[in-house]
Amino acid sequence: MVRKLWDGRFSEKTNQNVEAFTSSIDIDRHLYAFDIQGSIAHCKMLAHVGIISQEDASTLIEGLIRVRQNIEKGQYKFDDSLEDIHMHVESWLLQEVGKTAHKLHTARSRNDQVALDLRLYLRHETLEIINLLIRLRQTLVELAQKYIHVVFPGYTHLQRAQPVLFSHHLMAYYEMFTRDMERFADGLKRTNIMPLGSAALAGTTYPIDRDYTAKLLNFPKVSSNSIDSVSDRDFTMEFLSGASICMVHLSRISEEMVLWSSAEFGFIEISDAFTTGSSIMPQKKNPDVAELVRGKTGRVFGDLFAMLTVMKSLPMAYNRDMQEDKEPLFDSVNTLKACTHIYINMLPNIKIKQDTMEDATKTGFLNATDFADYLVTKGVAFRQAHEIVGKAVQYALGLKKELHQLSLKELKSFSSLVSEDIFSYLSVEKMIDRRNSYGGTSQKMVMNAIEHACNQIEMDKKKFHELA
Ligand code: ARG
Repeated sequence: MVRKLWDGRFSEKTNQNVEAFTSSIDIDRHLYAFDIQGSIAHCKMLAHVGIISQEDASTLIEGLIRVRQNIEKGQYKFDDSLEDIHMHVESWLLQEVGKTAHKLHTARSRNDQVALDLRLYLRHETLEIINLLIRLRQTLVELAQKYIHVVFPGYTHLQRAQPVLFSHHLMAYYEMFTRDMERFADGLKRTNIMPLGSAALAGTTYPIDRDYTAKLLNFPKVSSNSIDSVSDRDFTMEFLSGASICMVHLSRISEEMVLWSSAEFGFIEISDAFTTGSSIMPQKKNPDVAELVRGKTGRVFGDLFAMLTVMKSLPMAYNRDMQEDKEPLFDSVNTLKACTHIYINMLPNIKIKQDTMEDATKTGFLNATDFADYLVTKGVAFRQAHEIVGKAVQYALGLKKELHQLSLKELKSFSSLVSEDIFSYLSVEKMIDRRNSYGGTSQKMVMNAIEHACNQIEMDKKKFHELA
């Protein structure tokens, strides 16, 4: 059995069930690189202010680097009796460098150490997610450029509403993922704060230099209250909220992929590489990838709720409950990365069925609003125009015809103001191009939006490189 690093005041052995129950090593082992990075900076700071000698610091740092290499080579066995990654690294360091290892934990506690590890981890992952979201936005913009001439029905209540450019619809997702990216970038400001030096909860008696540690680890700020520093997990809750919102957006595009690829819509075909077959029905090609993204959304919401519930009503400062913070956080980070990544690869490979999309704009009275607008241009008040067109729709429905399939004479019977120009007014192309209000679906507005998005993406890439 491995000797515990805290067993000085204990006379009885820990119950074995308790060891397995309290151990978090299966989860927090993934923090090893950040734990070692933090410890190296801590060593340098201790030597910088003279708490340990330069020689000891060098021994510790070299040992920590060896520990990291050995972990990566898979040379160590993890052991529940050592609880967590912090204890494992420290006891492996003891094996590597001998008694000098005992000096590493001077002027810190696992409470500020785990807070540091988590912040280093989340900073790293948030940057990766920001990068993935930039790529996803770029993918959407490229699709919008490629299909700028494709029209299809816009929906409300899942009923055909008005014709729009398919690109306009894609750019709606661009906007959502842009806000998601901004949310993560904003959260990063509050994650990027250095907690080490808060020790167990009250700060430390040693003459440490927290700014020095922060500088070594590239943190722009140190935390200002030691109690808050060891008990704050807001930054993880904020991340999980952002992740949940981002998954809502991914679930919505997934739902549309599923609908659009069905025989009922027939708007797109997802490439073979991103679909799967059925074990019983030979004809099936299923949109499982999109379905799974939609399904995994539930898991991320669950992670947010797990985290909120762990933190709810916890008294100050650190409580062991907080060890439960890692599993939901890691799970959401991994899920969100996987889902974003798969969309970056799947989207460019969808086949657009332009004719089906366009045909769908021609039935279902998608030009009814425009007919009313037409009457308004002839001097009718909108409410009245609405009523006139309502009657015309009712009449056409009785004949199983669309408005544009009625004769001029029939149309005139609803309003004498109707003349021959109504037919070109009701063409899909004109309907789209008249919607030229800022943010509307006209070709001009959508091309402006695409151009703006391209510039924004370039700027975001630059900003990302500065942050990373
Ligand atoms: N494994 C613990 C966690 O993840 C580390 C901190 C333990 N602190 C303590 N006082 N027992 O929260």
